[in-house]
Amino acid sequence: MSDERKVAKKGYFHCHMPTRVIFGPGRLSEIGDVCREFGKKVLLFSDPFLKKVGLTERVIGYLKKEGLGVTTYDTIKSNPLCTSVDEAAGILKEEKCDFVIALGGGSTIDTAKAAVVVASNGGKSWDYVWGSDHEPVSVTDVSYSIITIPTTSGTGSEVTPWIVISNPALKGQKAAFGDYRLVAKVSVVDPELMVSMPPALTASTGIDVLSHTLEAYVNVNATPLANMLALDAIKLAAENLPTAFGNGNNLEARAKMAWADVLAGWTISHAGTGLPHAMGMAAGGLYDIPHGVSIAPCLAKWMEFSLASSLNKFASVAEAMDNDVKNMPLRKKAEKSSELVKQLLKDVALDVTFSDLRVTENDIDYLVEVVYTRFGGDVESCPRKPTREEVAELYRQCL
Ligand SMILES: [Fe+2]
Repeated sequence: MSDERKVAKKGYFHCHMPTRVIFGPGRLSEIGDVCREFGKKVLLFSDPFLKKVGLTERVIGYLKKEGLGVTTYDTIKSNPLCTSVDEAAGILKEEKCDFVIALGGGSTIDTAKAAVVVASNGGKSWDYVWGSDHEPVSVTDVSYSIITIPTTSGTGSEVTPWIVISNPALKGQKAAFGDYRLVAKVSVVDPELMVSMPPALTASTGIDVLSHTLEAYVNVNATPLANMLALDAIKLAAENLPTAFGNGNNLEARAKMAWADVLAGWTISHAGTGLPHAMGMAAGGLYDIPHGVSIAPCLAKWMEFSLASSLNKFASVAEAMDNDVKNMPLRKKAEKSSELVKQLLKDVALDVTFSDLRVTENDIDYLVEVVYTRFGGDVESCPRKPTREEVAELYRQCL
């Protein structure tokens, strides 16, 4: 299946939002009923924390109540490994499951989606990644329906076709791939599940939401639909992330961030991500940094770097984040956008540098190489396409 984001010819675009989103506090209890149409036996993906707090068991209860057989794969850690995906794919086939449920954050959802690819098509998960030293294997078959239950408000993976995995044999390097048939059939988005997220996780996933919308909104593949969704998501994140960070029990702020995440997921499904994701994922792979944290150091600097290429859009970003800038002259308003992002990063204690995350000057050549080999698509889609020297300089400025 072709990557339709590459159709960047003016006036041509695609639109694909097939996920049935079941949204609202308490709606997790509907999961058993929702799943009956997908088969008799499910592989439930989860993680050790959710198992410990009893959420995995609660979901198993809802599924069994509807007569479904359940096998679990619940050892997933953040920055999921390709080896873990391959192990899960083996279980999916051996246990003869009919479909999968991913209960968790982006790592769990990406593991489940990638395991479906391997169980459906064979081989190893790393065979399918883009920008590797081998020609990526194409996804020809998707034999299992995917249901998602996000427990964080970040990554958007619950509604996107994208997957990011890490390879322990390559210094933890991350790589992405995707296919439009991997988009979840149903996503149960229950904001009550996000209440237990600690502040640091709330911040890193929330900044991921913001970066998805910013990078997609200004990039060359932005579509009319992505533009609409992005501005709403930016406004929701700016208004609600500090509250969700400061008071995790505020269900209204949690619900608004959960919805912003869905919108941001749809935005990157149509327009993709940009340079901050490429730079962050290169660094995050090297030092096992949480995804949203790895993007934080370069987000505002990249906005400053890109400003002149997209003045109108950066002005709209500023207006979405703070209505008080409305009457400013265009350029001043556009300049405000990066200042507002810097302030938001401060508000959620993510005003970090790459040095804070252990990156050093000596790493820069390696990171630039990873940016271009693994995430070339993110570089190509930037409104101001950087040279290798400019990417190195951006890393340097963010140390
Ligand atoms: Fe992301």
